[in-house]
Amino acid sequence: MVKFFASSLTVLVLTLAAVQAQTTIDISKYPTINQIPPINSPEVQAWLKELGDLSGAPSIPLHKGEPPSCPNPPIPNECYWTCDGCAADDITACAAPNTWGLTFDDGPSTATPTLLNYLKTNKHSATFFLIGSNVIQYPDTVKREVTEGHHLASHTWSHHALTTLSNEQIVAEMKWTEKAVMEATGLRLKYMRPPYGDINNRVRYVLKKLGYIPVDWTGDAFDTNDWQMPTMAEAKVIATFTKSLDAYVASNKTKGFYCLEHDLNDLTVGVAQKLIPLGTARKINIASVAQCEGDAQPYQLGGTAPMPSVSGVTPSVTATSAGSVTPTGSSTVGTPTVAKPNNANVQSVGALSVAAAALAAAVIFA
Ligand SMILES: *[C@@H]1O[C@H](CO)[C@@H](O)[C@H](O)[C@H]1NC(C)=O
Ligand SMILES: [Zn+2]
Repeated sequence: MVKFFASSLTVLVLTLAAVQAQTTIDISKYPTINQIPPINSPEVQAWLKELGDLSGAPSIPLHKGEPPSCPNPPIPNECYWTCDGCAADDITACAAPNTWGLTFDDGPSTATPTLLNYLKTNKHSATFFLIGSNVIQYPDTVKREVTEGHHLASHTWSHHALTTLSNEQIVAEMKWTEKAVMEATGLRLKYMRPPYGDINNRVRYVLKKLGYIPVDWTGDAFDTNDWQMPTMAEAKVIATFTKSLDAYVASNKTKGFYCLEHDLNDLTVGVAQKLIPLGTARKINIASVAQCEGDAQPYQLGGTAPMPSVSGVTPSVTATSAGSVTPTGSSTVGTPTVAKPNNANVQSVGALSVAAAALAAAVIFA
């Protein structure tokens, strides 16, 4: 009898432990954080072998600088977005009309949970362009992002300008990040944003080979410059971005926009909570990249977790009068319509309570 209770208790304790388990990633199995990973490691050598021949990449000389200065004269056919505005087939605007493609780069950080609390309260879904070096330090935050209906994407391992790296180094940057997010969540990333927006046709070739879709942002007007705080005053960040939003509202709004924001520190997370209501007060919908692009499979195949659900763009607030907004909960607009999840085990954050979603995630990702 005592034995029975003891073993039942053990099961209970183990169950609770599993539910509350912190993910710990053995960082000794990863490259040095914030440094370009070496390409002679067994892991990178295996990835390169699997990837095959990269000799088809356009032979554009590597740039220098962090970020690099623009080549003068320009290199023909380089298509270097930050210098000549050439985006090739990168995504630069949210495909859904009247929609703010909400993205946060450079996380996760210790400031990220505060942002997640805000997004949960206001029922907004965002895409997080994650730095692999940060993922291995805060894997629980990354898991929480998935549980709460956000979309994960890559922002490389060490945040170096990709046009300065060799093809093999780009592979190492992308694959180590992919592995870290896979270990934290079971999901295999599909979208990426190049650090500094630094991308040309050589970088695109390697990214495409790896199955990645680059997502830039909708030009300078949609760069919030939040990372420049406190050197740049918060009031200036808000005033500049307000002008961009007003110009957008005055346009035909046939396409949405992606803007550049960061979950880097308390200042950037703080200003995000002031900028987003400026959009919703103007009746602009808020959406992740997956929602903007209507992509029901916003991860590559080969992950170990089921594809999380992506529901369509939802206007989470209705403006009742200027400066006063009322949350409307789960009302939906049609564009874009995304297929229902194809796996019943997938947590649907909209449908489940947060507790249930957290439990489901703990089980799926244990
Ligand atoms: C909407 O504005 C964009 C950018 O100014 C323009 O390229 C596009 O042709 C316009 N579309 C319509 C339907 O007017
Ligand atoms: Zn960045």
